[in-house]
Amino acid sequence: MNKINGFDILEIAEKFGTPIYVYDAKKIKENYSKLYSSFSNYFEKFTIHYSLKANSNIHILKILKNLGAGADCSSPIELNLALNSGFDPTKIIYTGNFESSEDLREITRYNIKINLDDITSYFRLKEICSPNFVSFRVNPGIGKGGFEGITTGGTDAKFGVPYELIPQAYKTAKSDGVNNFGVHIMTGSNILEPFYFAEVLDKLFKIVGNVFKELDIQPRYIDIGGGFGIPYTETDKELEIDFTAKLIADVFFENTRKFELGIPELKIEPGRYLIGNAGYLITKITGIKNGYKKFIGVDAGMNIFPRPALYGAQHKVTLYKKEVPNQIVQVCGQICENSDILAKNVAIPEPKEGDILVFHNAGAYCYSMASNYNGRLLPAEVLLDQKPLLIRKRQTFEDILETMRFE
Ligand SMILES: Cc1ncc(COP(=O)(O)O)c(C=O)c1O
Repeated sequence: MNKINGFDILEIAEKFGTPIYVYDAKKIKENYSKLYSSFSNYFEKFTIHYSLKANSNIHILKILKNLGAGADCSSPIELNLALNSGFDPTKIIYTGNFESSEDLREITRYNIKINLDDITSYFRLKEICSPNFVSFRVNPGIGKGGFEGITTGGTDAKFGVPYELIPQAYKTAKSDGVNNFGVHIMTGSNILEPFYFAEVLDKLFKIVGNVFKELDIQPRYIDIGGGFGIPYTETDKELEIDFTAKLIADVFFENTRKFELGIPELKIEPGRYLIGNAGYLITKITGIKNGYKKFIGVDAGMNIFPRPALYGAQHKVTLYKKEVPNQIVQVCGQICENSDILAKNVAIPEPKEGDILVFHNAGAYCYSMASNYNGRLLPAEVLLDQKPLLIRKRQTFEDILETMRFE
């Protein structure tokens, strides 16, 4: 592959340097409209809250805001980035984990709906304000994700209120005088099976349906989180998003009718689905080693591209202007850890030092997870829209030193 959104990869590398993250604006817009049109076929009251944790560059946030998306934040800084990008507070939700009193104090400065991770979070919130709206994240006792690290439901998951405690949680809030409610569930990320979304939603109604009916609660919204997957490997099948939306709608309307819950808004919090396949990491080959295996070194590493080391994730690899794979190699970073193998046993064309090597599907959970480990600097980011636009400067040694200067 030689071009991204019509722009020559080598020209981008020469103009902005490597390693560099680039994002295809056209692809982001296509992803959004595909998701939006699938769900709007079935739901009138429905909001897409883009999950900032996937990628929180404000230039990307602005694209999504202009398309009509809301935002889903998981920390006060993400919240401030969303506000800074112009999202209306009424279109921002907050879904955190172990929300501290400090975090809750910051969040409650704005009119943001919060999905509370535990009943103890509710107690901390009550010490700060008298909430007029409460939503709990439910752990339904089951979970599924692309990897163990991104499975967020079930008995090993640290997220959400265990479902057995849900009646108590809503009863407590109701008896405190709270009159407006929502509910949240998300049991894992990178799911490619449509039926799983419907199964989890069905489970949610089994948990909250009667509780809401007994407490005379008609929830303002039902938030099913993110988790909509993308194919990373050749054997991964694309998630059939229209079919997924239909299955979700069938369960949603059957159960809201059955439990007399009115017509709540459906909220979803996609991250990966909107940005994952729109991002690329462009690197340069720094060395080729014929060791016990053939190792190809690039000028990036697990510090800026952590998914392979963190989860064993696989990303497609291509070389600029070289098409025919003729060997199996290990593509490595420069970090002093043997987990810094960025692509294991991948087939690539004949490489040479200085070649441009591109990792695909690098838009989500890549830059947003980057660190300075081994003293390696954070790369720049470029948005490929009408023309290539630098949307984040490359970090410098001065930037690092600045945080340690006290005189
Ligand atoms: C609460 C919550 N919402 C949304 C997301 C985004 O998930 P995804 O990128 O799989 O859509 C996550 C990811 O972990 C999450 O924990």
